[in-house]
Amino acid sequence: MSWWWKGALGAALKKPAGNEEHNNVALIVGVTGIVGDSLAGILSVPDTPGGPWKVYGVARRPRPTWSADHPVHYIQCDVSDPKDTRTKLSPLTDITHIFWVTWANRPTEAECCDLNGAMFNNVLTVVVPNAPNLTHICIQTGHKHYIGPFEAFGKIKPHETPFVEDVPRLDVPNFYYTLEDIALDASKKSRGQLTWSVHRPAVIFGFSPYSMMNMLGSLCVYAAICKHENVPLKFPGTKAAWNCYFVAADADLIAEQQIWSCVDPNGKNEAFNCSNGDVFKWKALWKVLAHEFGVEYEEFDESDEYVSLVERMKDKGPVWDEIVKINNLTETKLEEFTFWFADLMFLGECMLDSMNKSKEHGFFGFRNSEKSLVSVIDKMRSHKIVF
Ligand SMILES: NC(=O)c1ccc[n+]([C@@H]2O[C@H](COP(=O)([O-])OP(=O)(O)OC[C@H]3O[C@@H](n4cnc5c(N)ncnc54)[C@H](OP(=O)(O)O)[C@@H]3O)[C@@H](O)[C@H]2O)c1
Repeated sequence: MSWWWKGALGAALKKPAGNEEHNNVALIVGVTGIVGDSLAGILSVPDTPGGPWKVYGVARRPRPTWSADHPVHYIQCDVSDPKDTRTKLSPLTDITHIFWVTWANRPTEAECCDLNGAMFNNVLTVVVPNAPNLTHICIQTGHKHYIGPFEAFGKIKPHETPFVEDVPRLDVPNFYYTLEDIALDASKKSRGQLTWSVHRPAVIFGFSPYSMMNMLGSLCVYAAICKHENVPLKFPGTKAAWNCYFVAADADLIAEQQIWSCVDPNGKNEAFNCSNGDVFKWKALWKVLAHEFGVEYEEFDESDEYVSLVERMKDKGPVWDEIVKINNLTETKLEEFTFWFADLMFLGECMLDSMNKSKEHGFFGFRNSEKSLVSVIDKMRSHKIVF
């Protein structure tokens, strides 16, 4: 960790944001998402590099109670709607940095390219001409840059792991490539005044009940249900996923890397992988998860039939409603949790990436994945999503 980042994190614990002058102005598109929430928390701390920051945060749904503490100017806007985007974002003439931490899913990747490209273009079309001090755009994509979109899994040859940033694109449609092309084009049109960075995290360990892919969120709910029913915590994945090496990316770490790219010239006009800097096995983290929830840990047993998490959770809606009620939790429905995504991760072979490029350019942030898991559970508890 570099000296300035340590300072920022120390301050994060002590200082609330005041009414001071702002050095930079962030627009977080996807502010209630898994990384959007971390960005909102960290950018709001006055000593964060580049700060004090003024923060605008965009999402479609009304502001949830769990994000109410961040001093963010919350804007309800659907960026897939050009008119709504123009109405809500054209008055924001002081934006200096855009953080693109949103996405939309569609049945085919060709449709994903069209829709995600249109969303990004809608925002740039409004912000670029109206915000003369706009200097940098961070876009968050991920490991699918190297393995292809969901629809291509098992059909194309992915890049070799550990993934490195500067490999050629795969020959399939991918909305990540669409986003990169749009950012590069905007930079070119500005004659280099507007810089960009691409951040490619591994599976994200983070909070946010509004995320479309939150692996730990669904595992916490699964563990809470096992505890409530007094049954052992069975691993709902394959032997390969239990035994192989994994990497993950803590949501706060990704936010730190994005902010670093905004303030350090070495972070600009480059793509960077983002993962915690360690490797782990699920057989080890499973013990931690069981311990944190006070449920019986069970070793993976090859003789057990494979049952996905989606299948295990299929009839548990009423059980979850009861858990929420008796433990006085924040109102959520079981279908809001993304069990399908945990299933996908647990089918897996190892998918490692390299953090060499990021470190060589000067970002030295890291996390201990086990501690990251525990901190997400703590946050889920403190916001009363689980008990
Ligand atoms: N999650 C992971 O583990 C993971 C891992 C690697 C890479 N990635 C990649 O990271 C990128 C960002 O995904 P994420 O997982 O960080 O996002 P996320 O947690 O699913 O959050 C999405 C955010 O965008 C908002 N949003 C969605 N559609 C919107 C729209 N039309 N207008 C305005 N706001 C909208 C959502 O709130 P509302 O729904 O209220 O609008 C939410 O705040 C994606 O490309 C994803 O593939 C994710």
